[in-house]
Amino acid sequence: MEAYFQHRFIPLSEARLSVMTHALHYGTACFEGIRGNWNREEDRTYLFRSREHYQRLARSCQLIKIDLPYTIDELCDITVDLVARNGFHEDIYIRPLAYKSSEAIGVRLHDLEDDLLMFAVPFGPYLDVDKGVKCCISSWVRINDNMIPSAAKVSGRYVNSALAKTEALEKGFDETIMLTSQGYVSEGSGENVFIFYHGKLITPPSSDDILIGITRDSVIRLAQEELGISTLERSVSRSDLYSASECFLTGTAAHITPVVEIDHYRIEEGRVGEVTRKLADIYFDVIYGRNPRYSSWLTPVEKKITKSVS
Ligand SMILES: Cc1ncc(COP(=O)(O)O)c(C=O)c1O
Repeated sequence: MEAYFQHRFIPLSEARLSVMTHALHYGTACFEGIRGNWNREEDRTYLFRSREHYQRLARSCQLIKIDLPYTIDELCDITVDLVARNGFHEDIYIRPLAYKSSEAIGVRLHDLEDDLLMFAVPFGPYLDVDKGVKCCISSWVRINDNMIPSAAKVSGRYVNSALAKTEALEKGFDETIMLTSQGYVSEGSGENVFIFYHGKLITPPSSDDILIGITRDSVIRLAQEELGISTLERSVSRSDLYSASECFLTGTAAHITPVVEIDHYRIEEGRVGEVTRKLADIYFDVIYGRNPRYSSWLTPVEKKITKSVS
């Protein structure tokens, strides 16, 4: 496998950083997660909304003062090249990381060098998208925008997510839902949250300390355009969650994952809801390139054929 590291493609096993790298000590990095979905019939991988991921990476970098050393077009091209060179025949996850690369001690964002690396790994389902998951409300409060910008996918912010995810697993749940310091629903450890209630989808607004998910945006559009269901962005209380007709999580890793229980309250009697199932079916067709109406969201990548010299 190859990685993109220090401006070139090299074997993944040789992409190594110094123990003194600033980002390792202080979480001073931003990252993205992009899925490549392999269409077996066409023997082709479809990258899902990679441009939007890089637009978000650029915003994240601007917020934590990382000078992204590439344009969005260049990042899209590097990604296509990386995937083609590795020649995967399965679903993959691409991880670009922009980071403070200086070998330096001292907490700050300024006067440091920046770099970007990227690698891709085979990646199947992250949560159970078929049967759904059981969630708990986390005892860890979501970090708010005045602590670390919520709109930025900053590495250091994920300690908050990791605490909450591990707490959930250690208590026997599959995933966690964190609340804001005001007590409203924010998001999962790596997912946005939706409920279906009185014929509408409802999801927390950006002011409730969420990362604005690209899957979240896709679901809002698919629900409206394909099912005629509108989405209300408003604060969601804990009791809204417990009394929802349906609930699901969205994210690059999680896709659309049904939630069947929250803190032992059964949602839809513990079954996957009808709207959730319909939306997931539509979404999976889109991401595997089976719905031409959304082809502008996809970048097809084929395995790079290396010419043999005879
Ligand atoms: C904290 C958090 N919220 C939400 C999401 C969902 O975002 P997206 O759909 O863009 O993957 C993610 C995943 O990237 C995340 O880490």
